[in-house]
Parts: sequence; structure tokens; C-alpha cells
Amino acid sequence: MRTVDLITRKRNGEELLPEEVTWLVESYTRGDIPDYQMSAFLMAVYFENMSDREVEAMTAAMLASGGKLDLSDVPGPRVDKHSTGGVGDKTSLIAAPLAAAAGVVVPMVAGRALGHTGGTLDKLEAIPGFNTKLTIDQFKEQLRTTGIAIMGQTEEVAPADGKLYSLRDATGTVESTALIAASIMSKKLASSLDGLVLDVKVGAGAFMKRQVEARRLAQLMTAIARRNDLRAQALLTDMNQPLGFAIGNALEVMEVSQTLLNAGPPDLTRLSLELAARMIFLAKLTETLEDAREVAQARLLDGSGFKKLRDVIAAQGGDPMVLDRFDMLPNATGAMEITAPRAGYVSAIDAEEIGLASSMIGAGRDTKEDTIDPAVGVILQVKAGERVDEGGVLCRIYYTKEDRLEEAAERVEDAFRLSSNPPEPRELILEVVS
Ligand code: URA
Repeated sequence: MRTVDLITRKRNGEELLPEEVTWLVESYTRGDIPDYQMSAFLMAVYFENMSDREVEAMTAAMLASGGKLDLSDVPGPRVDKHSTGGVGDKTSLIAAPLAAAAGVVVPMVAGRALGHTGGTLDKLEAIPGFNTKLTIDQFKEQLRTTGIAIMGQTEEVAPADGKLYSLRDATGTVESTALIAASIMSKKLASSLDGLVLDVKVGAGAFMKRQVEARRLAQLMTAIARRNDLRAQALLTDMNQPLGFAIGNALEVMEVSQTLLNAGPPDLTRLSLELAARMIFLAKLTETLEDAREVAQARLLDGSGFKKLRDVIAAQGGDPMVLDRFDMLPNATGAMEITAPRAGYVSAIDAEEIGLASSMIGAGRDTKEDTIDPAVGVILQVKAGERVDEGGVLCRIYYTKEDRLEEAAERVEDAFRLSSNPPEPRELILEVVS
């Protein structure tokens, strides 16, 4: 087989055979296919898409690039949650501790910032000392003692996704239902789950801008789950404006802490509780989803979700005091206010623009080799539907370097739309696919 022939056939819209897709993934993971050829292949997939059979083969090959974790000696029902990527989306760090506090075991193989969206691993690494590179033994031991362990792809767990993920991020090939489905499902199948809750984001700040595309992605992933005997539910949720107020790694950790203390933004709290409830329900810890909602709410109110996150931080090398003392987290050196040019209602906040602006000042990566600046980001002062006066503060940009700050500020300013009438309220949870 020649890589160039497979690239050409995909570029021409042909369906590849499962063994051809497998060969590409295996050869790339081994280092036998260079990044430039794999990038061309990914771009061809971006434009020409993949059939369900190709996605299935890609997922299986990415899963087989490592192995399936043997968690048979970890007692308890194993359920994870994964988002397709959003701006200000820190629900994993809230829903997982709430679910774990209710008795769910959460073996989480998480991702990094991708495109304009944030990543759970980058948020956690904003905590000084937090180690996301666990060995399999450490991962398993922590699941037994703490009920949650969080790590990234490794040589043993979905290494193909580790390589492809950073390549897609740097080559404009993220927004493909086929590639997103294979990326997410290969990691999730590797962690030997009983259940999986998927948060499929829709709207300006999501990779899927339209509900029909998001539904297709949700159906693709739940079908893969079904074929692999994994109970899965996908929620389609609104990502037209950032979730919560904070965007940026350390800033989001602070908001996670507030939310687990029941003092967080209403949208973030509501979605996190719903995701946690579905994790508890899929773990079969309650008879009904309604009961699971009550359990999730109780774990929030009694502080046990907060305590669970403290335990995870301590177990993975960080100081849990960061959740109480935000000065222990990396802090920005400057703040810039963005104000309203006129009075009006905030009719929209383009989450993609806010995500791109944050990435531009260091919260994300332009190239595979870039490092993240954990301190920087944006804190919204208002959300869609609220009224502002002329000169009222819309948000603050937190930065550590001034290069690209002006450009980022322009983007942030453009992200806010003002209108003279209040906008129609939007639903946060749009649809459930299972
Ligand atoms: N999350 C992932 O793990 N992969 C994607 O491609 C998008 C979101």
C-alpha cells in the first residue's frame, strides 16, 4: 500500500477499505507515515468525510494502537463523560467529582485544547504539580482509592489519538464528524467503561455549528458505543455563548471550585448537574433519571463533590488548597476591560471568537510544540440577555504578555452583539440521543 494512493482516493471521494484505514493509522502511529502526508489525508477526510464503515475502522485501529485497559480488578460501575469541545466548558471537572461522590468510578482519558476550544488536561495542568501522565498502575490504584483518575493518551492508551489530536489541532482538520467520533470513541473504548455520557456541543462556539450536524455526530458515537456494548447517551447542548463566565485554564479551575461550592454560574451548574445525573443513572446506581438528578444535587449541596475534586488533586500531585486560595494558581499580570460602545441588551456572545482570542494570548496552541500560558483568558461580566449601559464592562481579558493583545481585544469586542430588544432565551439542553 502507498500512502499517496490512499490520500488521492480519499481526496477523490472514494470509500477506503477497513484494512486500508487500519494500515494508515498503524503506520502513522509507528512513525512510518510523516506528518505532512497524514495532514493531507486528514484534510481529504475533512472535505470528503468518511462512511460509517470507515469511521468504525478508524476508531478500532486507534483503539488497537494501544490496548484496552483491564479494569476488572477495580470494583464499581465505570462511567465517564466527554465533551466534543466548547468554550468555557469545564463541566468534566464538576460532573465527574459529583458522580464519583455518588459512587460512580470515573476512569477519564481526557484531551487538551483543540482549535478554539479548551481541554480538560490543560485546565488541570494549570494546578501547580498536577500530573496528567499517570502510569496504568497509578491510574488503576487511584480509581480504587479515589474513584476518579484523569490522564491523557499515552503510549499504552490510544497513542494514535495522542498523535492525531495534536496534528489536527495544528492543521485545521478538527471540524470533521468522522475524525471527532473516532478520536473520542477510541479513547473512551480504551478505558473499559460500562457507560458514557457525551456532551455534543452545538452553535457558534462548537465544532458543529448546526444541530443537524451535531445530531449526526451524536448518532455516530452512540452507534459505535452500542456495537461495543457500551451504554451511552448524548446530550446536544447550546454553545452559542461561552459556558459560565470564565474562559482560560486557571480561571476555569477557579470557576469549577465556585461551582462545586454551589456558587457557580447557573448555566454551568445546571448542565454539570444534568451530566452528573446521567452518569449516575447509566451507572445503574438509581432506578430512574429523576432519582439520579436528586442524588447529583445532594452531592453538590453536601460538598462531597468539592471534596472529591480535592482528593483527585491531592492524589495527582497538586495541592488541593488551590481550590480555596486562588492566589496559589498562576495569575495574570494585566487585565484589560472591554466596554459596551452603546447601551442595549447582549443578544449574542460569539463563543468561537472568545475562544480564539483566549488562544491567541496563550490559552491554546498555534503549533504542536507551543506551550500553554495557564494564567490567561477572559472573564465575562455579562451573558446573553442581560442589559448593559454605554461604557458598561462586558468582560475582562487577563494577560501576561502584550503581543497579540490588541488583536485579541478586537476579536473579543466583536464577539459581543448588542440589540435594543432582549433576545429570545435559548435552551441549554437541546436534545438527547441514545
Ligand atoms: N474531543 C476529543 O477527544 N476529540 C475531538 O476530536 C474533539 C473533542
